[in-house]
Amino acid sequence: MRLLTAGESHGPMVLAVLDGVPAGLAVSPAEIDVDLRRRQLGYGRGARQRIERDAVRITGGVRQGRTTGAPLALEIVNRDAVNWERVMSVEPVAEPPDPVTRLRPGHADLAGALKFGHADVRDVIERASARETAARVAAGAVAKALLRVVGTDVASETKSIGDVVSEPRFDREAVEASEVRSADPERSGAMVAAIAAAREAGDTLGGVVAVRATGVVPGLGSFAEWDRRLDGRIAQALMSIQSAKGVQFADAFAAASERGSAVHDPIRVRDGAFVRDRNRAGGLEGGVTNGQDIVLEVAFKPISTLMKPLPSADLRTGEPAPALVERSDVCVVPAAGVVAEAMLALVLADALCEKFGNDNVDDLCAAVERYRRRLRPLDARR
Ligand SMILES: Cc1cc2nc3c(=O)[nH]c(=O)nc-3n(C[C@H](O)[C@H](O)[C@H](O)COP(=O)(O)O)c2cc1C
Repeated sequence: MRLLTAGESHGPMVLAVLDGVPAGLAVSPAEIDVDLRRRQLGYGRGARQRIERDAVRITGGVRQGRTTGAPLALEIVNRDAVNWERVMSVEPVAEPPDPVTRLRPGHADLAGALKFGHADVRDVIERASARETAARVAAGAVAKALLRVVGTDVASETKSIGDVVSEPRFDREAVEASEVRSADPERSGAMVAAIAAAREAGDTLGGVVAVRATGVVPGLGSFAEWDRRLDGRIAQALMSIQSAKGVQFADAFAAASERGSAVHDPIRVRDGAFVRDRNRAGGLEGGVTNGQDIVLEVAFKPISTLMKPLPSADLRTGEPAPALVERSDVCVVPAAGVVAEAMLALVLADALCEKFGNDNVDDLCAAVERYRRRLRPLDARR
């Protein structure tokens, strides 16, 4: 399964092309829109979210409610584009927009302008922007639909915002009811207050998102080559989310200072199946899923556009200049959790298709069934 996205933050739309989805999978725009809406919510988002009403238009790969095996084309219109027609015009305009030249530390502005030789940082901002994650979330919703067919579910919860920490419970109803996507009502309130205080100070906040996949088919990924290791592929996908700066499986950084006897998950046999009583491996051993839940955390840095800007420089003159101040989110951790779900789902769906084939969803299910039967070696030997 391959995903490409295109489109600028203030262009006419963002779009996803998702190739390799098996034929016969039930897909509906309404189902995708649920996740698009979830990505837009969360206390701490900026004014842009009041303009956008994200909804997918499927323009390829689905007929009569089912995938055909052709690439899916998923379009999400940017309603804000009407306010940016002159700035974003494909054709040169008579009155060109003023170039953006004041660089924001922490954003892609300087690195992107140097790399591509842009004199107007707008050319960088438009594509580095996380508006692109709407396309990822739409594609991720399709990946989730495929995973559900084999009983795999992906969920996320905010673990921390700033210095307010809560222990994730993955109580879906409570998470979705919270403005910051934390199941703990008291901690939710404290997180909201922390974001409000940061906004008041012209500042921003980051945090940590916990992500979990349940009902995972064992044996996805491989240790045979470095780039087939599924933990590496998952970490790459999650690290590619705008402002993600770290990924850990289970409590890997704490485990690094403990003894092996405390860290590894003893193996037992129950009812003819291999089981574990704990899951400090986070669901993967040797880069292969072991059938336990995949549990991981992603650290998101505070947003880099500050209403009280940091000292910076002007790209054109090199003179000192405060960083660009542009309409922006204050905290995106709740939204980032929804994006993280999408990225984990895309990697797991890809690995599932790799192992069981991606021509037809019924063939895939039959292959998973047969495989699950052979996973009970102790039954077979009795
Ligand atoms: C859902 C989401 C929304 C974001 N919104 C903003 C924003 O409004 N302002 C901003 O400066 N950065 C925002 N970011 C982060 C930037 O896109 C990101 O910091 C930038 O592309 C540089 O990439 P890096 O932080 O991964 O190095 C957002 C990130 C996510 C995941």
